Amino acid sequence: MNSIRLGDEAPNFNASTTAGTINFHEWLGESWGVLFSHPADYTPVCTTELGTVAKFKEDFEKRNVKVAALSVDGLESHNGWIKDINETQNTEVNFPIIADEDSKVAELYDMIHPNADSKLTVRSVFVIGPDKKVKLMITYPASTGRNFHELLRVIDSLQLTAYHKVATPANWEQGGDCVVVPAVSNEQAAELFPKGFKEVKPYLRMTPQPDVN
Ligand code: BEZ
Repeated sequence: MNSIRLGDEAPNFNASTTAGTINFHEWLGESWGVLFSHPADYTPVCTTELGTVAKFKEDFEKRNVKVAALSVDGLESHNGWIKDINETQNTEVNFPIIADEDSKVAELYDMIHPNADSKLTVRSVFVIGPDKKVKLMITYPASTGRNFHELLRVIDSLQLTAYHKVATPANWEQGGDCVVVPAVSNEQAAELFPKGFKEVKPYLRMTPQPDVN
């Protein structure tokens, strides 16, 4: 088992995918990345998930995010299943699905949780920054399809922190007020946030979302 923690470098690997062989880090390039596993091809919840991710193509692109799926099924299985996803979910799968038949990548990313299932990957999600560091990890059980609106929401939050030095409060959504991070002094905040900021407490300072008008 390889345990990954936030801030670690995302393990690199070479893998066969439905879009050809990739070296993960080279494939990511300067982009943000989402690597997400599903338990198995030709299963109902997974079919809806991969169809949903395909429909979110523009949402990921405008955030400069590349997405790759993974299961321990082979390429032939992935390619056959893609036809079903396209047909039933009314979309076109437009991202690589990694064929991890020997569980090499699943083990690198600790995606198999033996007390849940000894062989199949759980629903893991890793968000990786352009610096190749792991920024976010989420794990769902096989029986619960993921909320990809939530994934976009956390990517927006991560990018606000990376590019604008703000954090996001509980239940934050696009356009909502943000939190000035503790590392930023009041003097710096006055320069960084021309819309101003409100000091509710010295440790709790709120500012309008910096990247919206
Ligand atoms: C599903 O995708 O529906 C699924 C996969 C594995 C176990 C349970 C559900």
